[in-house]
Amino acid sequence: MRTESITERLDAVVAILEKHRQGHLTNGLDSVGTTEVESFIEQVESIDFDEIETLTSSDGSAGGIPEDLEPAPVIPRHPKGEASFRSAGEALIRQGEIAAFTVAGGQGTRLGWNGPKGTFPATPITGKPLFRVFAEQLNAIDERYGIETPWYLMTSPLNDAATRAFFRDNNHFGRNPESMLLFPQGVMPAVDDHGRILLEAPGVIAVSPDGHGGSLRALARSGALEHATSRGVKHLSYFQVDNPTVHAIDPLFIGLHATHPTSSGEMSSKMVPKVAAGEKVGVFCSIGGRTQVIEYSDLPTEQAGATTEDGSLRFIAGSIAIHVLAVDFIKRITSAGSETAMPFHHARKKVPFWDPKSGETVTPADPNGTKFEMFVFDALEFVEKGLVYETDRVEEFAPIKNAEGGDSAESSGRLQTERAARWMEAAGSEIARNDDGTVHGQIEVTSETALTGTDLVGQSCPDFAPGSDLVF
Ligand code: UTP
Repeated sequence: MRTESITERLDAVVAILEKHRQGHLTNGLDSVGTTEVESFIEQVESIDFDEIETLTSSDGSAGGIPEDLEPAPVIPRHPKGEASFRSAGEALIRQGEIAAFTVAGGQGTRLGWNGPKGTFPATPITGKPLFRVFAEQLNAIDERYGIETPWYLMTSPLNDAATRAFFRDNNHFGRNPESMLLFPQGVMPAVDDHGRILLEAPGVIAVSPDGHGGSLRALARSGALEHATSRGVKHLSYFQVDNPTVHAIDPLFIGLHATHPTSSGEMSSKMVPKVAAGEKVGVFCSIGGRTQVIEYSDLPTEQAGATTEDGSLRFIAGSIAIHVLAVDFIKRITSAGSETAMPFHHARKKVPFWDPKSGETVTPADPNGTKFEMFVFDALEFVEKGLVYETDRVEEFAPIKNAEGGDSAESSGRLQTERAARWMEAAGSEIARNDDGTVHGQIEVTSETALTGTDLVGQSCPDFAPGSDLVF
C-alpha cells in the first residue's frame, strides 16, 4: 500500500518529467480533479523515459538490408511425411500441449468499427463476429480431441472492458470462461516531431498499444505464460483477430513446428506465395542462416522484383501473421535481463492532441506524431531454426482490415465463400459459378460441420441453388 501523499507523488513525477524534458505534460493539470491527477501520476510512473529517449534519438529505420539476404527455405504445402507430421501434431493437441493465442489489441483505425475488431460481423451470410468464428473453431477442436483448449486473448487497455463485456454478454460462445485468459497489452506514448510526448487532454497522455510484438511481453507480464505452464501447455498457436479463415489450431503445422528436423521448435510461421512483387506483405528471408521477415517497405525494389529461372518471384514467401511459438521460447526472450529485447518500429500517424493555447483537442489532418510498435515476427531473430510452411491463400488468409475495397468484409466474405465452394467441390458437390469463375451465391460452412475440406469428404452436402445463400 502506498504511504506517500498525492502531493508527494506529484512532486516526484514532476521531477521525472523535468529531468526528461517532458515538463509540458503538466500543462492544464490544475484544471482537473484529484482522480484525474492520480491517474496522470500512474501514467507517468508507468512510462520508461529512458526507452522513449533512446527511441526518439533514432529515426527507427531498419539500418539497411544485409548483403547475405537470401529467400527463406519453405516447407511445401504437402510435405514429405505429411501424415506422420499431422499425427505428431494431433498427439500434442490431444495431450493438451497446445493453446490458442489471439492478438486483439489493435485499434482497427482503418476498419473504423465502433468496438473491438473481434466484435465485427465477419461471415458473409450470418455475420458472425470474429470472436465467435474462433470460439466455434475451438469448440469443434475440443469436441474432436476430447480436450478443453486454453485460449489466451490479448486486448489493450483501450478495448479490454468492451471485449470482456462482449464475451460475457454472449455466454463466451460456449467456451468455459475458466479456460480463457484475457489480458491487456502494454501501451507506448506517442511523441511529436521534437520527441515531446503528446497530451490527449489535460492530465491524459496520448498512448497507443505497443504493437502485436508487445504480445510476447504481455504474455509474460500478465502471468499467462505461468498459467500455460501450470496446465502443461507447451506451444501457442498465434493468430490475429482479423483473419476469419485462419485454422486456429492446425495439426500439420503444429507437427512440423514441433518435430520437423529443420525446426528448433521455438517459432514457426505460415506463408503464402506473394501474388505480385509490390504486394504489401512482409517477406520471409534468411539472413546468416536465420529466418527473418523483412517488411515490404524495407525490401529494395530490385530484390522484391527479382525472379528465379522459372519466372516466379525469388522472395516469394509472404508473411500472413500465423505462427506457433513455444512457451519456453517466449519465456526466454522476455525474461528480465534478457538481451533479446525486440525493437520498436516507428510509425508516423495522425495523433489527436490537446492544444494548451486553445484548450481544445485537435484532430490533425496530416501525420503529426510517431507511435512505437513492436512486431511479433521480430522474435524470429532469436530463433535458432525458424520453420516456414506454405499454405494456400484461399484456405486461410481473408483478413478484414479496411472498411471497403481490398481486405474488407466484402473481399473476405468472397474468399470465405470461395473456400467453402472448393471444399464442397472436392467432396463432389456441384457449385454454380459466374463467367469470371466466382461463386454464384454465398456459402458459409460452420466449424461444427467442417474444420477443413477433408471433413466434408464423405458427408452429404446440401444442394447449392445458383444465386442463393447456403449455410450448413
Ligand atoms: P494491424 O496491424 O492490422 O492493426 O493489426 P490494427 O490496429 O488492427 O488496425 P489499424 O492499423 O489501426 O487499422 C494486426 C493484428 O495485430 C493486432 C490487431 O488487433 C490485429 O489482430 N494488434 C495490432 C495488437 O494486438 N496490438 C497492437 O498494438 C497492434
